[in-house]
Amino acid sequence: MMVSSAGPNMLVTNTDSVAVVQLAAEHERAMMLKIRQSQGIVETTEDRQRDKERKRVADKFEDMRKEKHWSEKKREEMTERDWRIFREDFNIAYKGGQSGLPIRNWEEADLPETLMKAIEKQGYKKPSPIQMAAIPLGLLQRDVIGIAETGSGKTAAFTLPMLVYIMRQPKMTEEIAAEGPYAVVMAPTRELTQQIEEEAVKMAANTDYRIVSVVGGQSIEDQGFKLRKGCEIIIATPGRLGDCLEKSYAVLNQCNYVVLDEADRMIDMGFEPQVMAVLDAMPSANLKPDAEDAELQTNKVYRTTYMFSATMPPQVERLARKYLRRPVVVTIGSAGRATDNVTQRVMMVKENQKHTMLDSELSYVDDKRVIIFVNTKKQCDNVFRHLEPLGYSCTVLHGGKDQTQREQGLAGFREEKYTVLIATDVAGRGIDVPDVALVINYDMPGTVEAYTHRIGRTGRAGRKGAAITFLTLQVSYGISWS
Ligand SMILES: Nc1ncnc2c1ncn2[C@@H]1O[C@H](COP(=O)(O)OP(=O)(O)OP(=O)(O)O)[C@@H](O)[C@H]1O
Ligand SMILES: [Mg+2]
Repeated sequence: MMVSSAGPNMLVTNTDSVAVVQLAAEHERAMMLKIRQSQGIVETTEDRQRDKERKRVADKFEDMRKEKHWSEKKREEMTERDWRIFREDFNIAYKGGQSGLPIRNWEEADLPETLMKAIEKQGYKKPSPIQMAAIPLGLLQRDVIGIAETGSGKTAAFTLPMLVYIMRQPKMTEEIAAEGPYAVVMAPTRELTQQIEEEAVKMAANTDYRIVSVVGGQSIEDQGFKLRKGCEIIIATPGRLGDCLEKSYAVLNQCNYVVLDEADRMIDMGFEPQVMAVLDAMPSANLKPDAEDAELQTNKVYRTTYMFSATMPPQVERLARKYLRRPVVVTIGSAGRATDNVTQRVMMVKENQKHTMLDSELSYVDDKRVIIFVNTKKQCDNVFRHLEPLGYSCTVLHGGKDQTQREQGLAGFREEKYTVLIATDVAGRGIDVPDVALVINYDMPGTVEAYTHRIGRTGRAGRKGAAITFLTLQVSYGISWS
């Protein structure tokens, strides 16, 4: 309890220390005035200034006391200070351009009823931080680089504004469809592309939009046939979409909404020329002006480019920026950091001890789902040959398998037909299988980014997970783990 005097002969006992600040300031001013009067001292401008400043500070404290927490306020009551606290609470940081304000709940996004129903059906009660920050920017058609940890809902963060954008376009008639889709999403692997398609289909459930995925390993003629029938959205790997454009199976004459999921990986994997070819096929007249202060015309459609990942090494971001115009970089937490939802362990082993260590680790997980990452196709088969005779129900995913085997393996793992998935980095990024209990890096990944993404296959959507990495002294892979 705080005890203070609040005026001549008056004792205030007050647990409310802030009101006391105001009373104390007033008291001090009165006392000083009295002293000056009794000593015949003339009040100077400095005296008045000082008293005024004390009053201002005291009033500010009083204001703070009256302030409600942001969660109790209506959107229009939010002050700059509230927004700052809100951003701190959710670790949201913006860099570059006018960022606008995030949404605090789904209602504030003001999404069409059809999308709200789909969100409800998915059980997404509240938007995740990247959704809070990126969805309003997408709705404003700002170019965005969104960096947020693995499993934090980046897919819906770009899918929802994309669907709103499409709703604003003329309804696709047969004639309009001949000019190609309204939006394109690109991702580095076939499996991720198909997964994004599934999420987009769920979100677009109450619309009649057609979403076509275009990936390698399937008949390009069949894909061309589907594309010719018309669609609003193409979800593709850059290589196959490039082939479709070259063979004139696809055109992008009216595509002004582009998403590059796992953008750093696509650039890093050397997909840049293919990504460029796809972007070059879109109307360049719709690019936003480069200058930050250039006015945008209200009735014109501008190309919106969205890039997402959990990692974005600075050198890759520099490269990536040439695809974007005046982007806002939204970062949730620290860029590239592995998720806190995963407990990480590193075990020093000799190469010839790995099998034994693997057996020992797997013996603790019962029938829960496990992903074992290795660095080569050969190693995948080696681990499979070791585990299968021991009675584990395992499947293998790597680039050497044909597409049907790849799809069946991953589908079987999702459906719990298999509990162990042995994979190369093909499964390292973006793949979302609920309740993977453990990720084992049987081989140490080649980069810190690959490590962050691999272990992010567990501990998703706020759940907890565990990761174990076998580290052999023989191999350093040139990683700096500082
Ligand atoms: N607002 C939400 N509330 C609850 N769950 C959500 C929400 N948004 C997305 N999810 C779920 O969270 C999981 C992870 O989402 P998503 O795959 O989009 O993550 P990500 O950030 O893209 O991860 P990665 O970096 O690994 O690609 C999915 O199962 C998705 O259905
Ligand atoms: Mg993702």
